[in-house]
Amino acid sequence: MKDRIYIKDLKEHIGKEIVIAGWVDVRRDQGKMVFFDMRDMTGKVQCVTLPTHPEAIASAKEIRPEWVLKVQGLVKERNDKNAKQGGGVEIEVLNIEVLNKAETTPFQINENTMEVGEDIRMKYRYLDLRTERMQKNIRMRDKIITFFRKYMHENDFVEIETPILMKGTPEGSREYVVPSRTFNGQFYVLPQSPQQFKQLSMVAGFEKYFQIARCMRDEDTRGDRQPEFTQLDFEMSFVTQEEVLEYTEAMFIELVKNVYPEKHFTQIPFPRLSYKESLEKYGSDKPDMRINKNNPNELAFAWVLDFPMFEKTDEGEVQAVHHPFCSIKEEDKEKFMRGEDLFSIRANAYDLVLNGYELSSGSIRIHERDLQKQVFKLLNISEEDQQKKFGHMLEAFTYGAPPHGGFAPGIDRIAMILQNEPNIREVIAFPKTGEGKDLMMGSPAPISEKQLKELGLKIQK
Ligand code: AMO
Repeated sequence: MKDRIYIKDLKEHIGKEIVIAGWVDVRRDQGKMVFFDMRDMTGKVQCVTLPTHPEAIASAKEIRPEWVLKVQGLVKERNDKNAKQGGGVEIEVLNIEVLNKAETTPFQINENTMEVGEDIRMKYRYLDLRTERMQKNIRMRDKIITFFRKYMHENDFVEIETPILMKGTPEGSREYVVPSRTFNGQFYVLPQSPQQFKQLSMVAGFEKYFQIARCMRDEDTRGDRQPEFTQLDFEMSFVTQEEVLEYTEAMFIELVKNVYPEKHFTQIPFPRLSYKESLEKYGSDKPDMRINKNNPNELAFAWVLDFPMFEKTDEGEVQAVHHPFCSIKEEDKEKFMRGEDLFSIRANAYDLVLNGYELSSGSIRIHERDLQKQVFKLLNISEEDQQKKFGHMLEAFTYGAPPHGGFAPGIDRIAMILQNEPNIREVIAFPKTGEGKDLMMGSPAPISEKQLKELGLKIQK
C-alpha cells in the first residue's frame, strides 16, 4: 500500500488526510457515532466515525474486532484524558475498506493472554502473538539477537552456519534422530549444540567463531527448557579463561545498557564463586544473588568457576559434568593422567548465572589428542568407540589445533529474564507445549506408509 502511514507516524500528519491499515482492536458503537481502535505493528490509534459521513458509519457498524481494514481519514490532535495512550492523535474516519473479515477469536487479543489456557494459546499461536505483550517479547528478543550479532562482528567474530543434520553429540541429553532414505538403517542426529563444529572451526583457523545457533534436545520440557532452543554460541582461539570471562561480562553489561537501560546490576564486576563455594554457600550451582527478588529491574549476574570434570550417574557410571571436551585444571592434571580420584578433578569450565538461572556454560577445551583420549578412557569409552564416535576430533587435533575455548549463552533464557517472563515459551514465537507438541501444526505426526517404506522403517505397535 503505497500511501499507507504507520500509526506511530500519525502525529507528523496532523490536519492532513491519510490512509492507515491494520486490525480492529476494540469497537464502541454509540449510536450516532462509532469509535474503534486500529492496531498496526507500530501501535494503536482511536478512529471516530461521525454522522456527517453516513457511508463510513454504515461500515463502522458492521466491523468487528480483528477485521483487517484500510481506513482513510483526517488526523486530529487529541486533548482528552486518554490522549497520551493514542499518541496524542485520533482519526476522523472518511472511508473504510474491509480487506478481510475475522471470526470471533477464541480469546481476546486486546488483553494479556497469560490467563488463557495454554492449549488454546498454542493452537492459535498466531492470534496469541498479536497481543501487545507477545509482540513486545518477540520484538525485544530480536533486539537482543541483533545486539549480539553486531557486538560479535565488531569484535572480529565470523558467523558460521554449522550442520543441522549431523552425527551424535555428547552433551548429555537424548538426541533427535532423522532416518536416512539413501542409506536405510542409518540416521542423522540433530545437534544438541554446535560444540564439535565450533571446535573444528578453530582447527580450521577462523580463530573467532559465533553463531545464533538452533539446538535440539529430546529432554523433558520445563519452564526454562524447550526441546528446540537458541544459543549465542561462540569460540575463540589462543584465549585464557580470564579473557572469555571478561569478554562475556563486558558484552552483557553493554547489552543491558543498550537494550534495557531501565535495569541495573546487583554487582559489577560480576561476583565469582567456585563451584564448591557456590554449593556450600547457596546450596546450588546457580545461586540467585539478587538483593530484592521482587524488583523486576534487578539483574544479579554471577560466575561459577572450576566445575568438576566428572560425575557419577544414578547407574553408577562416570560421565562428564559439562562435556568431554573441557580441559583439566593444571593442579589436577597429575591425578587426571593417573586416573585417580576422578570426582575431585576440576575442569577449566565455567557457568554464567543470572537471577538463579543458568544462563551459559563454557570451558577452555582440550586441543591435544592424547589428553582427549585420556578423557574418553576415563569415561570408559573403548578404543573402538572412540574412533567410531570421535575419530574426526582426535584426528583434527593432530593437524595443528590451536588452544581454544568458548561459551554458549542461551538466548531464550536471556530474553525470558530480561522481559520478566516466568517461562521461555513466552519469548519463543512458536514453542512446543510441556509435552513437546506443536498444537498449531500438529506435530509430532505419523508419516505415510510410502515414506516409511522409502526410509526402510516399520512401526512396531
Ligand atoms: P549447555 O548444554 O550448558 O552447554 O548449554 C548452554 C546454554 O544453553 C541453554 N540451554 C537451554 N535453553 C533452553 N532449553 C534447553 N533445553 C536448554 N539447554 C541448554 C542454557 C545453557 O546455559 N556446547 C556447550 C557450550 C560450551 O561448552 O561452549 C553447551 O551447549 O542457557
